[in-house]
Amino acid sequence: MNSIEKGSMKRGEFLRSLGLSTSTLMAFYCLGTTMTACGSSDDDPNPNPDPGTGTGISGTTTGSNINFTVDLTNSNTSKLKTNGNSIITGDVLVAKTTAGSYVALSKICTHEGNPVAYRTTSNDIFCQSHGSTFTTAGAVTNGPATAALKTYTVTVSSDGNTLTVKA
Ligand code: FES
Repeated sequence: MNSIEKGSMKRGEFLRSLGLSTSTLMAFYCLGTTMTACGSSDDDPNPNPDPGTGTGISGTTTGSNINFTVDLTNSNTSKLKTNGNSIITGDVLVAKTTAGSYVALSKICTHEGNPVAYRTTSNDIFCQSHGSTFTTAGAVTNGPATAALKTYTVTVSSDGNTLTVKA
C-alpha cells in the first residue's frame, strides 16, 4: 500500500508537472508555428511563380523559343474563353480582346523592360511604369516606348479548348 500511495503521489506530481510542461510546450509550439509561417512567406523568393504543367500551361513561355499551349478547360486559364480577359505566363501576355480574337505579345515593355498588361476598358496594352500604350497588335500608340511589342502567333484548336502560342 505504501508503495501504491507513493506511486499515486508520484503520478499526481507527474500530471501536475505534465500540465505545466504541456502549456509550456504548446506556447513554444504556437510561437514556432507562427514564426515558421511568417518566415516562409517573407522569405519566398518567388511568390508569383510562372504557371507550369498542371496549371493549364505547357511548353516554353520564356526566352527566344516561345512555344506553349494553353488548356482553356483548366480553371487557371479558362477565363481566356471570355472576351476582355488576359493572362501572363513567363514572358508572354495572352489576351482575348473585347472583339473576341486571341493575341499574344511580349510582356516586356520596349521602353525599359517592365511588364505590360492588357486593359479591358480600352482594349489595349499598357505599361504602368511610364505610361506607354500599345495596340493589341503591339504597335506603340503612346510613348515613351518607341518600338513595338514582339507578337506571337496564336492558333485555336478546332474545339476551341486549346491555344497554341509560338514565336
Ligand atoms: S518601361 Fe514601359 S513605359 Fe517605361
